[in-house]
Amino acid sequence: MDPEVQKRHAAARALEFVQPGMKLGLGTGSTARHFVELLGERVRAGLDVVGVPTSEATRRQAEANAISLTTLDELDRLDLTVDGADEVGPDLSLIKGGGGALLREKIVAAASSRMIVIADESKWVPALGRFPLPIEVVPFALKATHKAIETAVAQAGLSGPIKLRLKDGHAFVTDGGHWILDASLERIPDPKSLAERLVAIPGVVEHGLFIGLAQIVILAGPNGIRVVERPSA
Ligand code: A5P
Repeated sequence: MDPEVQKRHAAARALEFVQPGMKLGLGTGSTARHFVELLGERVRAGLDVVGVPTSEATRRQAEANAISLTTLDELDRLDLTVDGADEVGPDLSLIKGGGGALLREKIVAAASSRMIVIADESKWVPALGRFPLPIEVVPFALKATHKAIETAVAQAGLSGPIKLRLKDGHAFVTDGGHWILDASLERIPDPKSLAERLVAIPGVVEHGLFIGLAQIVILAGPNGIRVVERPSA
């Protein structure tokens, strides 16, 4: 089955969790895009919700779909965030940030009572790490931050190339004006330990390990939908 059809199925299932009056976090990426499009259809049919987008791209898409938007300066908490992921581990920890929106995605997810991840089955992995881990950094002193990340990775017992993300031959710039280093670590057996080391580095703004944030993952495959709940959720 076409992966885009699978993503749309997952997005449609997530829409069933949306209730009138909800404050929603709107994710970023090709799967979240399907959700925003489907949500737009419901809004135009009269559903009353308000959204906080996790990227400028999603903001533009939501506006084009007539979805009312607000910010986390106006609201303290959101009811639900629906977002995609680059990898989903068995405990519903995630790697996110393939699209570069990890910082706003994590802020929005952390401000939400519930986070639902939508993905096609290919994102489900026995252990995180095959997808290069995005680490958002400030451009200032990139070399020093790169070195500190290498040290942190080695202290966590991991290794692999850590490369500056490029776009059109230049550093890829996030919505927050930062750069991204992608760490190809192959397997991250203890994401929490790596996450703690990364956040301790001054030049690191955020990393793409989302631990304890997703409560439900909706996976769409050729044989249908699988809904996985985090045991403590
Ligand atoms: C955006 O920065 C990412 O975190 C996306 O949520 C992630 O890359 C998933 O994107 P797709 O739905 O396009 O695979």
